Amino acid sequence: MRAQQIAVIIVAAGSGMRFKSKTPKALAMLKNWPLIHHSLHIFEHIPSIHDIIVVGRKEDLRRFESLHSRFKKIRAIVPGGKTRADSVKCGLLALDSKTAMVLVHDAARPLISQALVLRLIAAVRRHKAAIVAVPVKATVKEVDAKGWIKHTPKRSYLWEAQTPQGFEANLLVRAHQRKGGDATDDAMLVERLGTKVKVVMGDYRNIKITTPEDLCIAKEIA
Ligand code: CTP
Ligand code: MG
Repeated sequence: MRAQQIAVIIVAAGSGMRFKSKTPKALAMLKNWPLIHHSLHIFEHIPSIHDIIVVGRKEDLRRFESLHSRFKKIRAIVPGGKTRADSVKCGLLALDSKTAMVLVHDAARPLISQALVLRLIAAVRRHKAAIVAVPVKATVKEVDAKGWIKHTPKRSYLWEAQTPQGFEANLLVRAHQRKGGDATDDAMLVERLGTKVKVVMGDYRNIKITTPEDLCIAKEIA
């Protein structure tokens, strides 16, 4: 796989319901910069990445337009869909046909590092599909609809998935051709094809900004 054929899709087309803010979550400020700038800055400065596609809500797109002048690798800013999987699909349609590898990243995770992205790229080159994740620190319970514990999975086998997640472009396109409304990440869709996905060490600082408190935590660790 040639290094210059890597594209990134940054999804920022959610409604930010749990964040409870009028401004789009991706434009919330963290240390003087909108959330989405933090990860864009990291991807922009990795030489092997050639294209970035930003996916936003249709009504927010005008507010994302200024990203073009700041980040030269942005190829397109496109409207997303109803679910996260729909939004990734919209991003896939904007890819250059020569793209060999795609990294998908949530705008809601601003605290990635260059080292983390390079680890992921190396794993995707080797295994075709890989995600960053961290070992779960808590004991996790599977609970039924009435609130009774069904099962306690062995903690040492549990990892919390993060983004970016990376795939050979053809593989990710095939995974998204199937219905995936319930999929909360891309690996889930690739797993359903029967393809093995490699897990590489993420970073506990790579938190997802979901509620307003998460932004306070991010300000502390940024
Ligand atoms: N996302 C998207 N399109 C959707 C839903 C989500 O691009 N239809 C993106 C979000 O913008 C975010 C990432 O997927 O960057 C992870 O989603 P989440 O943290 O759940 O963000 P929101 O869906 O915006 O928030 P909420 O679920 O609270 O409404
Ligand atoms: Mg959501």
